[in-house]
Amino acid sequence: MSSHLLSVDSLSRDHVDHLLRVAARMEPIAQRQQVTRVLEGAVLGNLFFEASTRTRVSFNAAFCRLGGTVCDTTGFTFSSMAKGESLYDTSRVMSGYCDAIVMRHPEQGSVAEFAAATHVPVINGGDGPGEHPSQALLDLYTIHKEFSRLGKRLEGAHILLTGDLKYGRTVHSLIKLLSLYDPMRITLVSPPGLEMPSHVIDLVVSRGHRVEQRDSLASDFSDLDVVYTTRIQKERFTDEMSESFAGVSQDFTVDRAFLDARCTETTIVMHPLPRDSRPGANDLNVDLNGDPRLAIFRQTDNGIPVRMAIFATLLEVEDLIEKDLRPV
Ligand code: CP
Repeated sequence: MSSHLLSVDSLSRDHVDHLLRVAARMEPIAQRQQVTRVLEGAVLGNLFFEASTRTRVSFNAAFCRLGGTVCDTTGFTFSSMAKGESLYDTSRVMSGYCDAIVMRHPEQGSVAEFAAATHVPVINGGDGPGEHPSQALLDLYTIHKEFSRLGKRLEGAHILLTGDLKYGRTVHSLIKLLSLYDPMRITLVSPPGLEMPSHVIDLVVSRGHRVEQRDSLASDFSDLDVVYTTRIQKERFTDEMSESFAGVSQDFTVDRAFLDARCTETTIVMHPLPRDSRPGANDLNVDLNGDPRLAIFRQTDNGIPVRMAIFATLLEVEDLIEKDLRPV
């Protein structure tokens, strides 16, 4: 793995498997059954120039669980970028203050540009419609854990990715990670104009997976092992797109009726969250709350050990953690 985590493109199957094994070792620390101070004295710069709850707070908590300290900046208003400071200068300055940096920014490629100017590890916490590699790692970790509980294998699994597959960065990273594994069947369902980028589909197909694209959840498919739905990212729409999307009458909601029609008792339902709870939103219905197949909060819990594993490997302390462990 390179010294940064900017895209899942830098990860091999071996790297991913190693990270997930380290994440499993982090679980007792994430749940505070054991403690470590292995990153005592280390400082994380948590720079979020776009809204976030999960990614910002869970990276913060993961670094603290390893004994480190976190400096946060949220939004452009309270950073000197509001005064015209460049990504380059911000990066050079922050790398003098921090041992690692997590950054979220609305422009695709901006986190890589920031990382090029620093000597400390940088983690992409989401760059516009680009990628969200740590979310994909925790999503894959969740699928592995859920499949292990259910006695299923990833090989041959039927995975549905639905919602905004154009601007939803989590699905770009996740489908590429899944493609590192043995052949599976992946069905993509999105509203017109919000399809998965073709270069991503081409990559996945070239790795031996069967990919089908549909424009409706009412299509004829069944026996889903995973339903992964995403929010429509209206904040990334142009005015023209907002107008054309307003005319889409089809329903892309994953709800109890959909599960009853298309899924089994062992299908798991995932979403990177946030789900949109405003009137007219159509990603994941609350009528599934309480259904054991709904894995969304197990998924968010998995964010802590996975992000601890990312820090442990990038900062090369994973072997020190074992020696430093102590009871609460
Ligand atoms: N999944 C995710 O990135 O959530 P936040 O936007 O709350 O960080």
